[in-house]
Amino acid sequence: MKSSGRWLPGARLLTLLPFALLAAGCGSKQDALRPDSPPAHGIATIWWIMLGGSVVGLGVIVAILVAAWFKRGVEGADRPGTITVIALGIVTPILVLAALFAYSDIFLIRGTSPPAAAAATNDLDVRVISHQFWWEVRYPGSSVVTANEIHIPVRTHVIVSVHSDDVIHSFWVPQLNRKIDVFPDQVNRVELYADKPGRYRGQCAEFCGLQHAHMGFYVFADPPARFARWLRAQARPAKRFNALFDDKCSSCHAIQGTPAHSHVGPDLTHVGSRTSLAALTIPNTPAHLAEWLRNPQQVKPGSLMPDLNLTSAQVRQLTRYLESLK
Ligand code: CUA
Repeated sequence: MKSSGRWLPGARLLTLLPFALLAAGCGSKQDALRPDSPPAHGIATIWWIMLGGSVVGLGVIVAILVAAWFKRGVEGADRPGTITVIALGIVTPILVLAALFAYSDIFLIRGTSPPAAAAATNDLDVRVISHQFWWEVRYPGSSVVTANEIHIPVRTHVIVSVHSDDVIHSFWVPQLNRKIDVFPDQVNRVELYADKPGRYRGQCAEFCGLQHAHMGFYVFADPPARFARWLRAQARPAKRFNALFDDKCSSCHAIQGTPAHSHVGPDLTHVGSRTSLAALTIPNTPAHLAEWLRNPQQVKPGSLMPDLNLTSAQVRQLTRYLESLK
């Protein structure tokens, strides 16, 4: 009795865990039930339809169970006939599932897929390449390469082509569209269209290794003029060269306008203009950047950023340099 007394409060807490997680999820900024694009509205609508249908179905089953409970042991009580069993157990599920299939295939899948033909001239193409555990972002037709923060013009059809540099990942911005698998040997496409300006959180949705959960990204939907200004600024090469960076970091990172041009890790030409680091693991502040440079495996264990054994003076110098790259 003593041990069960100790165990029970823990068990009660465990039973509450799914509800706590659900509540936490509902309060976060990455929420498929707060859609901000036509495809995401369609996905949220079918989610609510399925929830409503499930509640009705569960209600019917509970009602039958309760009726059976009250009739237990009653001599001569009615037993359901074969027709009732076939109607409720076979025909009803077939009709419900067929209706859901037709609705999702006719209205939803087509509405959430990018057009099969070449994009219209006023559409924007963005290329996203996934890596363990971050996102490389390129804008065809310009030299812009960035990481983990995708800027798009608001109320514009943006066709995102995704492929992977290593394992399978999944690109997902819940408020803007459905998930799309990211394969190493195939390019997949998904459309992002934001109804209103804002910052939308995205996440890798396919387990891809130790830091899968820290493989997030932001989509910034900006007014078109602001987006154009951002793109022009990002296309400019860096104004300054840093010998320490070139010595320690250039074998993995690029800074356009300097001899560093490796794309093993994120392009850092304008890293100072980003709001986050390490695929949204930490905010982009001098203190967090210094900690990341000093001890990357403590900040993001399993990431491919190695410990460079930098001295405090070197960390300070690199932090100042990188934060100046706006
Ligand atoms: Cu990439 Cu999970």
